[in-house]
Amino acid sequence: MSEGPLRRPFAAITGLGVAVPPRVVDNAWFAERLDTSDEWIVERTGIRERRIADPTQTVADLSREAAEHAMREAGITAAEIDAIVLGTATPDRLLPSTACDLQVLLGAVNATAFDISAACPGFIYALTVAEGLIASGQSRTTLVIGAEKLSAITDMQDRSTAILFGDGAGAAVVRRTEPTGDKPRGILSTFLKSDGRLGNLLYRPGGGSSDPLSEKVLAERSHYLRMSGREVFKAAVIAMAEASDEAIRRAGVTADEIDLLVPHQANVRIIEATAKHAGMPMDRVMVNVDRYGNTSSASIPLALDQAVREGRIGPGSLVLLVAFGAGFTWGSAVVRW
Ligand SMILES: CC(C)(COP(=O)(O)OP(=O)(O)OC[C@H]1O[C@@H](n2cnc3c(N)ncnc32)[C@H](O)[C@@H]1OP(=O)(O)O)[C@@H](O)C(=O)NCCC(=O)NCCS
Repeated sequence: MSEGPLRRPFAAITGLGVAVPPRVVDNAWFAERLDTSDEWIVERTGIRERRIADPTQTVADLSREAAEHAMREAGITAAEIDAIVLGTATPDRLLPSTACDLQVLLGAVNATAFDISAACPGFIYALTVAEGLIASGQSRTTLVIGAEKLSAITDMQDRSTAILFGDGAGAAVVRRTEPTGDKPRGILSTFLKSDGRLGNLLYRPGGGSSDPLSEKVLAERSHYLRMSGREVFKAAVIAMAEASDEAIRRAGVTADEIDLLVPHQANVRIIEATAKHAGMPMDRVMVNVDRYGNTSSASIPLALDQAVREGRIGPGSLVLLVAFGAGFTWGSAVVRW
């Protein structure tokens, strides 16, 4: 277990990009179909609308659009990418990885490519692996992706989950950095943790190799995501607090120095609890769950990208990323922009 900021930073984010499907689905759409209301959804979650992909739009398509934006911003070509690390809970196919499909779409012929299955913190897990690949000398330039088509695994007849999720993708170009000055830019710390004992509180029972897709699975709708919302909520609040503390401690900074908290966008009440624990007022917290719902591994890059475009993050900003999800998995990072 690494303790503190030894030789960091090794790596910095030099380009960001996002992609969301054009179709906007608001809460009224669900209220017309399920026993729910705009008021309930806004009050309990903070979500007002989300993007839903059409059936032909793949996770690799969304990833490609996001990646091309990020590559343009970073000023790199596809041939310069040494590694593609893609966090997703909704791969287009179970084999091969969506990262390999994306490699083809981008023409990243010199890269190694693989997926990471870590649910909502998938982007932070991928970022951490990217930093490790760079620190070990395996890669100079790594493309980190968080991309999801959650609409494909959401039971649209289940009001307790249908209203929560959305589709989208985010990408970051992460490059080896040569630290300069006393406050060099880059990834200052990361923290990852899991507790598989709580896996059945948020899971897809069917459709995997233990219960392959069959008439039975389809009839039971067990290929769709199931969640014990209240228990997940409580665990998320505790884990996000631990993750915030750890990333801050490992970066050798204080919460007061953090310019912007960019938390996983699952529920505005979880975000508020995380900010309160860290002692950060909401004007130093990025919230866009109202526009996109919970996009799992795409959520952090969607929020990060918006914060940069809105000028809430600029050169020298200290940013705290924190996420929690199925597994359970949780993780965090402190990045100096
Ligand atoms: C799902 C979530 C919004 C539900 O909010 P909640 O305040 O915990 O609500 P509960 O689950 O306790 O349900 C309260 C009531 O609302 C009802 N309800 C659930 N979904 C509803 C909906 N869409 N519309 C109206 N009522 C709904 C429940 O059936 C329950 O009714 P009951 O009291 O008669 O049994 C909340 O638990 C949550 O956000 N959990 C974490 C989700 C999450 O972060 N998941 C991913 C991790 S990354």
